[in-house]
Amino acid sequence: MVDVPFVSTPEHVARRMLQLAGVKPGDVVYDLGAGDGRIIIMAAKEFGAKAVGIEIRKDLYEQIMRRVKVDGLEDRVKVINGDFFAIDVSEASVVTLYLLTSVNEKLKPKLEKELKEGARVVSHDFEVPGWKPVLVESVKDYWCDHKIYVYEIGVSTPKKG
Ligand SMILES: C[S@@+](CC[C@H](N)C(=O)[O-])C[C@H]1O[C@@H](n2cnc3c(N)ncnc32)[C@H](O)[C@@H]1O
Repeated sequence: MVDVPFVSTPEHVARRMLQLAGVKPGDVVYDLGAGDGRIIIMAAKEFGAKAVGIEIRKDLYEQIMRRVKVDGLEDRVKVINGDFFAIDVSEASVVTLYLLTSVNEKLKPKLEKELKEGARVVSHDFEVPGWKPVLVESVKDYWCDHKIYVYEIGVSTPKKG
């Protein structure tokens, strides 16, 4: 099921999300609802991370695959055409979201269960209800401000076990 329509995170906001999450080589960045793939491609190209995008729309999945090929990133970027609720994300050290508060709420138990302590979750514009962000930043755009919420598993979330 498509839970959220396709709207892109502006490039400068995406870059700031990855900076605030402290993305570096060795990280594995998952974008849940990858859209046109800009976040995962940036994570690989500019931050040297491995990245995985999960995108439910076939046309967008195919668009990302074409971009990954053109950029020669096949060894570092994986794209899955599927529903993020059905795909294990335990490998992620960083998860990026641009969804809705209601969808973040539904994803919360899955993220708490699957992600390791210390993993960061970065959400554009929509909070994860009940989690305490370790950082919130506003980024200016022409028309509006974008909010970035950074969470850390084990710090923002209930302790496991
Ligand atoms: C608001 S866009 C964000 C795109 C990208 N993450 C960005 O920030 O530029 C949300 C994306 O999530 C996808 N999506 C919605 N529900 C989904 C689901 N259940 N599983 C996977 N992708 C989904 C939509 O097709 C859309 O491309």
